[in-house]
Amino acid sequence: MLIAQITDLHIKPAGRLAYRRVDTAPYLERAVAWLNALDPRPDVVLATGDLVDAGMPEEYARLGEILGALAMPFLLVPGNHDRREALRAAFPDQPWPESDQPFLHYAVGDWPVRLVGLDTTAPGREGGVFCRERAGWLDRTLAASDKPTVLFLHHPPFATGMHYHDRQRVEGRELLGAVVQRHRHVVWGLCGHLHRTITTVWGGVPMSAVAATAHQAVLDLRPGAELTFAMEPPACQLLLWTGEGMLSHVAPIGDFDGPHPFYEGGRLID
Ligand SMILES: [Fe+2]
Ligand SMILES: [Fe+2]
Repeated sequence: MLIAQITDLHIKPAGRLAYRRVDTAPYLERAVAWLNALDPRPDVVLATGDLVDAGMPEEYARLGEILGALAMPFLLVPGNHDRREALRAAFPDQPWPESDQPFLHYAVGDWPVRLVGLDTTAPGREGGVFCRERAGWLDRTLAASDKPTVLFLHHPPFATGMHYHDRQRVEGRELLGAVVQRHRHVVWGLCGHLHRTITTVWGGVPMSAVAATAHQAVLDLRPGAELTFAMEPPACQLLLWTGEGMLSHVAPIGDFDGPHPFYEGGRLID
């Protein structure tokens, strides 16, 4: 099974730039074309939040048009820039819970690896929240199947060494950690929000965030450093389930020189 992750698409209304500089929609269009050209194709694409920039219906409509060109199914979870009601309304075919449920979390078990999307958002807050209600749902959901399982969520619970991000780590992350540690079939956690590719082990589980489809956070590990962005290459994360384990490939999205051969006539080119 091959799982693709893209994140932090930050789609704006037509004619508007993110942070007055970034035209995010063409970046997402390039990511969609890149994903469609992969061979083998991913079984599913996970988009881990900040799908649009201001949670507006017209932004979700534009997002839907672009994601509609994907050749494979996609699954969405919200980020701090999203609004649950508008997201739910724009994508009625997503496996959302019943409309009386407060959180947009769900499990999909159709593939060899089960996918569990988590909602770490709290209206009006930039950082993530994981409360007792969400922990209870996750505990019950993970107990319902012993299939290898990937969690996907917007806010990473792990520390990054980047001051700005670590200042607003997920509130209630100890609840998430306790649940994850109880269920050893959780094989990976995919996060967004950081606009950087970062991999660690947290709660005994490999977890990674990937670079966004458009703008990236500048790597700055100085104490107290403010957050800035740069147009470093966008990327996609591919989780490959080999049957005996999971591994992560991260590839930049863009046009690069190559491919060129290493070998000619069976010999390394010197
Ligand atoms: Fe973001
Ligand atoms: Fe975010």
